[in-house]
Amino acid sequence: MTKLKWGLIGGGEGSQIGPAHRLGAQADGHFDFVAGALDHRADMGRAYAQRLGIAANRAYGDWREMLAGESAREDRVDLVTVATPNSTHFEITKAFLEAGFNVLCEKPMTVTVEEGEEIVKIARANGRICAVNYCYSAYPMIRQARAMVRAGELGNIRLVVTNFSHGHHGDAEDADNPRVRWRYDPAMAGVSGQFADCGIHALHMAGFICDDHVTTLSADFASTISSRVLEDDAMVNFRMSKGTVGRLWTSSVAIGRQHGFDIQVFGEKGGIRWASEQPNQLIYTRTGGRTEIIEKGEGGLHDEATRLSRVAIAHPEGFPLAVANIYCDLADAIRGQARDGLPTAEDGCRSLAAVYAAVASAKDHGAWQEARPPMFRG
Ligand code: NAI
Repeated sequence: MTKLKWGLIGGGEGSQIGPAHRLGAQADGHFDFVAGALDHRADMGRAYAQRLGIAANRAYGDWREMLAGESAREDRVDLVTVATPNSTHFEITKAFLEAGFNVLCEKPMTVTVEEGEEIVKIARANGRICAVNYCYSAYPMIRQARAMVRAGELGNIRLVVTNFSHGHHGDAEDADNPRVRWRYDPAMAGVSGQFADCGIHALHMAGFICDDHVTTLSADFASTISSRVLEDDAMVNFRMSKGTVGRLWTSSVAIGRQHGFDIQVFGEKGGIRWASEQPNQLIYTRTGGRTEIIEKGEGGLHDEATRLSRVAIAHPEGFPLAVANIYCDLADAIRGQARDGLPTAEDGCRSLAAVYAAVASAKDHGAWQEARPPMFRG
């Protein structure tokens, strides 16, 4: 099997998500890291790319130079990852898709719903893969949870409850730190703060496990640190198309919660619980039965969970290998074997519509709002 060629935009030295992409893309030997425009400072980006082993003529100063350079090559990259700040995702993703490249874009895929719809249309029209990095959905035990729901093991799903609440922006004295402040500034972050940053992972996860999508929602936003324009805490009630009731809490001021992402799914025949801080385990209770722990790596799991697990039972794989699972699915899809769980531009677009619905609801004292993008209504 020939290796695929991979390029990265953003994810420069010191960035938060860059290392997870580099580890993830290369973990299973599917991709060679051959091109990059890694930093908004051209010289820093070129130098860092070369220190990571990229040839000088593919260590680009910016993404436009990379688009021109890669488009002109016969051995152009098979996949481009966009891991820059949110406001740049749309123009970079659009340009590479239009030039015929496959793209993995960081979340949120775009800043507006209209841009999200445009990306979906471009990807459909030219048959390119456009995935969005909802990487938590690629943990083996989340794939197990989705397979259990699909197999009817929980019966009809009545209720899903999810939290993505941490306390790392809870220090009011640190609120003016530039690395923190931009997330609550509409000029930098867009229309939503914490909900668009972390809440959309939880909302995507609810739809992913339940094999459904959000149709309507009601939101209450709060800026508990008063200097913040955008919300640092949100409670969102939602409904999904099959009637499932959803509850979501996201916060960045929940001091003492560390990563703080968890989800519970309650069906007619039983319930399951998963938390990102113990990602190897799925807690399962049948109606009227004892609670059991389903462990990554044990026998009898659904194929999707087994396929995306590498090391033996009880050995943690963790976040970078969840990202690696996204790259495994992408490699398969690029080679012609479409993978059902891979988060797509459609998912990215649905998330944006939910963000805008939540903002509108919060401004209207929690009034329920349509949460589907126009292109997915009716
Ligand atoms: P960061 O601020 O730590 O790093 C951004 C990097 O992009 C820097 O190296 C910067 O120099 C580079 N950059 C900025 N503009 C650029 C441009 N025009 N061309 C090339 N490089 C450019 O940001 P962070 O936290 O790594 O976030 C990046 C993206 O990843 C965001 O969209 C964020 O929402 C997403 N993210 C996703 C996570 C997930 O779990 N899927 C987790 C953390 C971030």
